[in-house]
Amino acid sequence: MNLSVPGRTLAGAALALAGLLAAGAPAQSAAPSAARPAALAAPDIPLANVKAHLTQFSSIAAANGGNRAHGRPGYKASVDYVKAKLDAAGFTTTVQQFTSSGATGYNLIADWPGGDTGQTLMVGAHLDSVSSGAGINDNASGSAAVLETALAVSRAQLQPAKHLRFAWWGAEELGLIGSRYYVNNLPAAERAKISGYLNFDMIGSPNPGYFVYDDDPVIEQTFKDYFAGLGVPTEIETEGDGRSDHASFKNVGIPVGGLFTGAGRTKSSAQAQKWGGTAGQAFDRCYHSSCDTTANINDTALDRNSDAAAHAIWSLSAGTTNPPGGDAYESTADVAIPDAGAAVTSAIPVTGRSGNAPAALRVGVDIKHTYRGDLVIDLVAPDGSAYRLKNSSGSDSADNVITTYTVNASSEAANGEWKLRVQDVARYDTGYIDSWKLTF
Ligand code: TRP
Ligand code: ZN
Ligand code: CA
Repeated sequence: MNLSVPGRTLAGAALALAGLLAAGAPAQSAAPSAARPAALAAPDIPLANVKAHLTQFSSIAAANGGNRAHGRPGYKASVDYVKAKLDAAGFTTTVQQFTSSGATGYNLIADWPGGDTGQTLMVGAHLDSVSSGAGINDNASGSAAVLETALAVSRAQLQPAKHLRFAWWGAEELGLIGSRYYVNNLPAAERAKISGYLNFDMIGSPNPGYFVYDDDPVIEQTFKDYFAGLGVPTEIETEGDGRSDHASFKNVGIPVGGLFTGAGRTKSSAQAQKWGGTAGQAFDRCYHSSCDTTANINDTALDRNSDAAAHAIWSLSAGTTNPPGGDAYESTADVAIPDAGAAVTSAIPVTGRSGNAPAALRVGVDIKHTYRGDLVIDLVAPDGSAYRLKNSSGSDSADNVITTYTVNASSEAANGEWKLRVQDVARYDTGYIDSWKLTF
């Protein structure tokens, strides 16, 4: 009866079966988790590639009345350009439409498959320009750097612990319209899964400063460490807190950070001394003007900020070797889940702890399945009490459950045998528990 649901294919079932056969007979055992390997170093982001995107955005503006503004054809052409690159690189792209000032606007969202969707790192830039010009520093620079970094994720076939989602926002120049629309239309449960948002707006200013947003301390430090490694001093961004799309995320409590090389404000002599460039002149004399062209870019600033973006994405998505306050216990035993059958369990014995489990016990689940809507999942405490992690749903047609749940287990003794209990309640699709983990 589920055969008519879109997304359920025989090929998928065959693949899942192949996975089960390859995995061998299910066993019930648990091993303590191995430490995750140190985060891989981010690749260099080729400046030539970032600049090639700027050239394309410039041509798109030239072919569309000289701008890439909200409601104008150059905006949609910019979306199409970025989307085509991402689709070819294996991203799952979504175009979200909204209306502002009587015109249709578009956000482009690109998910990199894999990682823990319960901990999603988002990275974004606004893709619209003002109507007076092509908007190459503001903000083809951020758009191109985020695009090229996403393409680098694909070239590396990165498998981060966290889920990665990239975004290009519409109608920022009309007042952060696109990003606010995205955040406001996310269900609360989806919002809660976004562990951070990184913003890149104006990162190639011709008389550059190196500004880091003073928001989430971990994100801020990650950027500062990168520039410190280059020997480039940074300052805290103060030219307009809340004047770009990170404000839409910050307003709902999501940790944010970002980079900026300056807009209309004047570079001081102290700043010119440490960064070079011209004191007494704006960081970007062409800010919001028709001269914001490909000539309005400092290559060194664009290069450093693009590499800093990659560094932050690689390190912030890699996961932690030692979860805060926590010891992890993991079972990597594969347990087959019979189709529309009895519940199965995978056990993790916990010993040597005192007292109760925490109020925020983290339960990391990695279940491979061709239709996750079939699955009911519970955490079972040593005394047998069950905590529902997920119900079944006829409309949850994605595959796999790879996420982290948080359970208030403060009334349970920590020591003893904990179980993950999984039941497949609908016919046809199948799968197995690949691994699961408890973090105290
Ligand atoms: N797009 C922003 C704007 O036009 C540019 C900007 C100004 C900015 N101040 C900022 C971006 C501070 C980031 C941080 O207003
Ligand atoms: Zn901008
Ligand atoms: Ca099934």
